[in-house]
Amino acid sequence: MRDTLIFAAEVYLYYVLSSVLLALLVVLIVHAVEFEHPFALGSKARPDLYEPKGAIPLLGHTLLFLRNSRRLSEFVLESHAARRRDGVEDADKAVSMTLLGRRLIWLDRPEHLEYVQRTNFANYEKGQDQRNELGVLLGQDDKAWSMWRKITARAFTVNSYRNVMSASIHHFTKLFIRTLEAKAREGATIDLSAVLFALTLDTFTSISFSTDPGSLPAAARGETNAFAQAFDEIQVLLARRMPFFWLVERLDGTSKRIADDMRVIHAYSDKIIRERIEKVQQLDEDGDLDMLGRYMAATKESGEPLTTEELRDATINLLIAGRDTTASTLAWTIFELLRNPALIEGIRRDAAKLDDPTELPFDSLKEMNWTSAVFYEGARLCPTVPNNHWTARGDDHIPNGPRIEAGDHIAWSDWTTARDPAVWGPLAGAFDPTRWLDGDGKFRKDSRLHSFNGGFRRCLGETLAHFEAVATLLALFSRFDLSFAPGYLEWTPMVKTEWCEHESPKYRPALTLPMEYPLRVEAKKREGGG
Ligand code: HEM
Repeated sequence: MRDTLIFAAEVYLYYVLSSVLLALLVVLIVHAVEFEHPFALGSKARPDLYEPKGAIPLLGHTLLFLRNSRRLSEFVLESHAARRRDGVEDADKAVSMTLLGRRLIWLDRPEHLEYVQRTNFANYEKGQDQRNELGVLLGQDDKAWSMWRKITARAFTVNSYRNVMSASIHHFTKLFIRTLEAKAREGATIDLSAVLFALTLDTFTSISFSTDPGSLPAAARGETNAFAQAFDEIQVLLARRMPFFWLVERLDGTSKRIADDMRVIHAYSDKIIRERIEKVQQLDEDGDLDMLGRYMAATKESGEPLTTEELRDATINLLIAGRDTTASTLAWTIFELLRNPALIEGIRRDAAKLDDPTELPFDSLKEMNWTSAVFYEGARLCPTVPNNHWTARGDDHIPNGPRIEAGDHIAWSDWTTARDPAVWGPLAGAFDPTRWLDGDGKFRKDSRLHSFNGGFRRCLGETLAHFEAVATLLALFSRFDLSFAPGYLEWTPMVKTEWCEHESPKYRPALTLPMEYPLRVEAKKREGGG
């Protein structure tokens, strides 16, 4: 009996092994037949599109992608540039890459993105892969999105800009200036990136959650709070995720770091929610709800209030949307200004129109033409969500663009498009605020800009970011003469691409494009600067 059982097990094993081998053989034959257009397992080549060189059978572009994961934006730019060098200019021949289990089709025309994000919005979603990669931090799914968007949008009224938001922005701008004054008195080198992150964290938590985390005073002492550290680290770890990340992360210990960071982030957002629950009654009576208050007062389609987990997800989503994006845009913009100080004069002229340049009234924002142009040029050239992708639910054909198949990942790189001469002209890669001014020197927006996303998912906080950034630039440059710290330019690694002469500091591959190395400056109080 024992022998019969062993024999049966051996036969079973033999069948399993030979089936696996046969399946592998079939896969290899299929891929060998497709040798001219190798593609990754779980995907399919698109010979009708432009497939960058370097794909291999079974893995497609996976290894190439992995090798370039710390310089993804440059890699995407090089792929678009190679396509043009190879003479493939047709708008319908987008760049296509296959990674294990997915095909990426990179769009590089603003009108194609407008089609995906507005005209045929119903056919595209962030999708399961984005949820798998970012869901641990950004919990919402596509189904819940429209409810969140409606509730959040209600917080951005002209009245709230004039009252709640202005009060917070003025308060923290002044604190920011005092922090820099103390550093200037000491003659110390300033890590401006850290101070800007502290400024936007304090301003944003005050506007959204009516609480002050005290990061600016901490930054003045050279400290970073545990929440900010965890938040910064997890963004880098999540931005690295590729197909099969769960396996790699288990092996190299990343999953433990992510779990530790999430514990810190959850503890912080739970504290915000607890404190906010205690205040809710008072704020409701004032009729002035902050964003968290709005979420707490809202009900779902079922009529139930949001759960603690849902409130926590909303809190974290808002923090990532509002804090890091604005701080990074400011850091990149200030870098460009210090490299070309003649551009600062226009900011000082705008500041001179105000009674107090550290207190920009919301209604005066529209008069700050030059400073607005500077901010939008910073947002264009250094888009803080540099690369993104959605998934196609069904087959589609983008007008004058590529054919799309269900399950394709539609990807785009705003960082690349900003440098693309075909979109922004021959000097696309240069920092030039005048492109945002009309003949009369008045600021005007440009529909090609995609740094704030587009269509039905355009950023809800664009005006808040614009207001906060302009208020910061006016206060900063009216009060200080700023210069790079000695050695900063010599020692900071730069990125240069074939489409532009203009070098910029190396970015850190994270969800919101921080600089790899802090922006180090020296500040001198200006004579008569208040
Ligand atoms: C310079 C600063 C900012 C930039 C460049 C920026 C850019 C973006 C981008 C690219 C997206 C789309 C992200 C995605 O779906 O993957 C987005 C979405 C969003 N942003 Fe901003 N953002 C900025 C500041 C802010 C601020 C201050 C807030 C304030 C709350 C905010 C709130 C939001 C919200 C709520 C969404 C989600 C919109 C939706 O999916 O319907 N953003 N932003």
